[in-house]
Amino acid sequence: MNKIKTIGLLGTGVIGAGWAARALHTGINVVASDIDPKMEDWINEAVENALPSLQSLTEGITLPPKGKLTFTTDPISMSQQVDFIQENIPEVLDIKRKSLKSIAEVTNKEIIISSSTSGFMPTELQQGMTFPERFIVGHPFNPVYLCPLVEIVGGKETSDKVKKIAKIFYESMGMHTLMLRKEVPGHISDRLQEAMWREILHALNDDIATTGELDESIVYGPGLRWSIMGMNQIYMIAGGKGGARHFIEQFGPALKWPWSHLKAPELSNEIIDRFVEGVEAQSQGKSIREMEKIRDECLVAIQKVLSKHNMGAGKTLNEFKKKIESINKKS
Ligand SMILES: NC(=O)c1ccc[n+]([C@@H]2O[C@H](COP(=O)([O-])OP(=O)(O)OC[C@H]3O[C@@H](n4cnc5c(N)ncnc54)[C@H](O)[C@@H]3O)[C@@H](O)[C@H]2O)c1
Repeated sequence: MNKIKTIGLLGTGVIGAGWAARALHTGINVVASDIDPKMEDWINEAVENALPSLQSLTEGITLPPKGKLTFTTDPISMSQQVDFIQENIPEVLDIKRKSLKSIAEVTNKEIIISSSTSGFMPTELQQGMTFPERFIVGHPFNPVYLCPLVEIVGGKETSDKVKKIAKIFYESMGMHTLMLRKEVPGHISDRLQEAMWREILHALNDDIATTGELDESIVYGPGLRWSIMGMNQIYMIAGGKGGARHFIEQFGPALKWPWSHLKAPELSNEIIDRFVEGVEAQSQGKSIREMEKIRDECLVAIQKVLSKHNMGAGKTLNEFKKKIESINKKS
């Protein structure tokens, strides 16, 4: 399928563990590294928790044997055993730059190094790195083992060949790759999400709604539609017979009205409390693990429905199935 047999993870928190679960399930070995030795138990538990939903999602697909997971607290040792490195350490520019630089110094120039960063641009991260042309951003979505999207972003020094190899590799793990035309802070998807979250924080700050009411405004309406078509196509349909043109003529003028804010509100203790207490009340005593289980079961069910219509993430699942079937036929 591809020459990348082992992925190395730098940082094994929420995102690192998600990459591990996806890679192992699709037959890729994982060498996980984290400076905190306690993360070994965490990653093992996270991979185990992800398994039932991954099995359900890929039901009917004859996948290669599962990959092998090993853990080390030595990132340098990790970098010397792997074919591709995915960095998932905290979103702090200096820490990322320093760690990436030290990893790059000791790895073969053929090894692609990818960062899961939510917001930094690849050009910022590849500065001063040995062989910066093999560096990209590969931005995933939580949970990485169930959300197929990965945004691939190249920096000023990244080679096109590296972006293409990364695309093939991520797709071999059942992902949907979105190749960004330009690097911008926050890539594409996080910019969209942040615009919405900023409005949420304003609504909390101005006491317009609780976190529960704000989530209701998404879950029962627009959120239900977004996984099928995304906002632009959904708006086209909302234009009725007149389609997109009628829609923009009707609602375009409202963009000039002061409905939304450009700047985030000051993060006062009050607003933080409203956010944290609000979402905790919404969970009705359920633990994060229990909430994750519900989220994952629904994510699988949604993708199975979408696959029947060959839409969105369901299309990715169908393409992955076809790819695996063709590999299995050849072997
Ligand atoms: N959480 C999300 O929803 C999400 C989504 C997409 C991308 N990301 C990005 O992924 C990255 C990681 O986020 P996360 O939520 O998994 O963070 P996290 O805090 O859960 O995990 C970070 C891990 O990195 C380890 N670490 C810290 N410094 C290290 C070092 N020098 N070497 C090795 N390990 C080190 C920590 O011990 C910790 O286990 C960030 O860049 C973030 O922007 C996060």
